[in-house]
Amino acid sequence: MKILVVGGGGREHAIIKKLKENETVEQIFALPGNGGIAADATCINIAATDIEGIVDFAVNNKIDYTVVAPDDPLVLGCVDALNEKGILCFGPNKAAAIIEGSKVFSKNLMKKYGIPTAKYEVFDDADKALKYLETAPIPTVIKADGLALGKGVIIAMTREEAKDAVVSIMQDKQFGKSGDNIVIEEFLTGPEVSVLSFTDGNVVVPMISSMDHKRAGDNDTGLNTGGMGTVAPNPYYTDAVAEDCMQKIFLPTIRAMKAEGRTFKGCLYFGLMLTQNGPKVIEYNCRFGDPETQVVLPLLESDLLTVMQAVTNETLADTEVKFSKKHACCVIMASQGYPSSYEKGYEITIPADLLNSTYVAGAALKDDKLLTSGGRVLGVTSVANTLKDAINASYEKVENIKFDNRYYRNDIGQKALKAGEEK
Ligand code: AMP
Ligand code: GLY
Repeated sequence: MKILVVGGGGREHAIIKKLKENETVEQIFALPGNGGIAADATCINIAATDIEGIVDFAVNNKIDYTVVAPDDPLVLGCVDALNEKGILCFGPNKAAAIIEGSKVFSKNLMKKYGIPTAKYEVFDDADKALKYLETAPIPTVIKADGLALGKGVIIAMTREEAKDAVVSIMQDKQFGKSGDNIVIEEFLTGPEVSVLSFTDGNVVVPMISSMDHKRAGDNDTGLNTGGMGTVAPNPYYTDAVAEDCMQKIFLPTIRAMKAEGRTFKGCLYFGLMLTQNGPKVIEYNCRFGDPETQVVLPLLESDLLTVMQAVTNETLADTEVKFSKKHACCVIMASQGYPSSYEKGYEITIPADLLNSTYVAGAALKDDKLLTSGGRVLGVTSVANTLKDAINASYEKVENIKFDNRYYRNDIGQKALKAGEEK
């Protein structure tokens, strides 16, 4: 089979490495991929948002199956465009991808179907939003409606910060049209859990839970990033919590999407907060998380392509999806300065025996050398019988992967380790 993977980050690298385990896979193309992914797939310089380019490539190269991994092409309707040409895909169509593409849509969906989430108000007018903020409970959370490169959520600890956020999103158009509408919602507290799931629109099969580390600095300090590391499973996500989430959140969500004529097929990501009043949805993503995928897929014992095809064919109920009982830890190695400004172009050296556990996010090949080209450069994953061993193994690998200007958090997994010990 000839497979196409749309995207070019660490998540896509993890998907590609897993797909390669299937013996029927002859060739994998990555659009655009990156310098590190080039070791595992044929990278073609077509942007993940160039829907026409992607469809032309898939048709001309007789692609058998496509995995559309990032949010933008999904929200733009990449799966619809490929399906129109008869190309089978993993990923939701445009109508279903709106669950991530519009926060106003997802909040209204949850309200309509009684799915637990933070209380909220929607605004299409900055003056009304500012007036509401005069008396709204503080802290509060301001969210741009549309996609905003992961930066559209502002936790405002003061009334001033909240007002500034409204002005920059709605009036200064910091995120363009994504900020035409905003959600202002209740600030929730509690441990966060990421649960990715496979769903064919009829059944939902949660993958192993995970914990992201979003802040740039140790002990959750500094700016929000795309994610500085992950561990799986998440110790806060007990069997009882999982059952509660299945009944109150996962099943109601896929049923709601079907009832709305927006059947979701693909990976539905539930960003959850375990509050004192039970689990609540913080966000939905219409795709695999990054860097959650880099710990979840290494623990998947079933064949990924078989599971993905079952999603496409709506036969997920008859397909085994099995996860290992082990633990995984992924440490992201970034460029110093990320997520603000950083230098790039530094040579990366990865010892040959570590290539298998390395997922490259931001690197380019130049004269056969791998050079840093992004904020998040690569992720290093280890799988072990205990979380502690997985963390130690990953940090040992990190020591041996070298590039100038490298930066990583030193405490990935420590919160989970502590929570696990307290249980
Ligand atoms: P996102 O960029 O959508 O992944 O959200 C960023 C982070 O904002 C989440 O991981 C949460 O930590 C936080 N967050 C979002 N909504 C809320 C909320 N209602 N209460 C508290 N924290 C929130
Ligand atoms: N790691 C969070 C995300 O993929 O959105």
